[in-house]
Amino acid sequence: MTVKVPPLKCQGIKTKLTEWIKDHSTYENNGTWIEPFMGSGVVGFNVAPRRAIFADVNPHIINFYNAIKSGKITAGSAKEFLEYEGALLQKHGESHYYSVRERFNKEFNPFDMLFLNRACFNGVMRFNKRGLYNVPFGHKPERFAKAYITKISNQIKYVSQATSRFDWTFTCSDFRKVISSASEDDFIYCDPPYLGRHVDYYNSWGEQEEQELYALLKDVPAKFILSTWHSNKYRTNFAIEKYAYHFTILTREHFYHVGASEKNRNSMLEAIVLNYNPLTPIDLQNEKQLTLLERKQREKYVLYSTPA
Ligand SMILES: C[S@@+](CC[C@H](N)C(=O)[O-])C[C@H]1O[C@@H](n2cnc3c(N)ncnc32)[C@H](O)[C@@H]1O
Repeated sequence: MTVKVPPLKCQGIKTKLTEWIKDHSTYENNGTWIEPFMGSGVVGFNVAPRRAIFADVNPHIINFYNAIKSGKITAGSAKEFLEYEGALLQKHGESHYYSVRERFNKEFNPFDMLFLNRACFNGVMRFNKRGLYNVPFGHKPERFAKAYITKISNQIKYVSQATSRFDWTFTCSDFRKVISSASEDDFIYCDPPYLGRHVDYYNSWGEQEEQELYALLKDVPAKFILSTWHSNKYRTNFAIEKYAYHFTILTREHFYHVGASEKNRNSMLEAIVLNYNPLTPIDLQNEKQLTLLERKQREKYVLYSTPA
């Protein structure tokens, strides 16, 4: 599967796990795909549901996608904007990045959001205590080369076409409200901020939120998948044992690099928590074998526990 990459990046983006999550979802286009923590939206965008609610508490993400949906941002207008601002960035370097950042923090224009997100350090999205965008420059004045702009405008084109073809709603809401609206035919994909990580203005996530989220999911009539982390070589996610023990938990090893060196390769066991058993034991066995063969042992599936 070629994963369609969305135009905005964020911390914890699930590009590399999208196929795995999609393969385990039972969504079948008869209900609504509900994504209460949309972030970049990569998972739902690749599922391409006929009807969806994409929600997030970050209003800038939602404004951006509503601007695409309304036609304010199109592949063409984004290309024009990035060509113009990219030329200024090339000419003036980081001072131009910081002037756009200042402008964004006054006007909150979604075009500026796109520019900052794609020119900033490490493609992250971070806001300070006053809710202002504070990611530093990515040190690449020549960032917006022709091929890069084409790539971004194609990413916008995909979302733009999907929003005119499908019934997609983008809403700035808290997860409690969004999850409470789900009914039996719907499918929920939850990817909350990881407890103890990525904390910023729109990602303040503590044990209280984790507990409330699991309490809501325990009684929700819809099927769900929740993404979280299981463990790395230093720590294990205690919330899994504490809150998710009565659900199905599948894990998968994921390697990531710190810096450019191959030597600094770290492994993280990612997890998905489901309120159903996606596979029969035989299928699971086959899947394990297929997965190991197909992926040449780079990644592996582990069944951690199943519901009673
Ligand atoms: C880990 S990111 C989601 C990443 C996304 N699945 C992806 O692949 O790009 C978590 C998102 O949850 C949002 N968020 C944090 N607290 C929230 C809350 N109380 N209700 C709804 N969204 C929230 C954050 O703004 C952030 O975009």
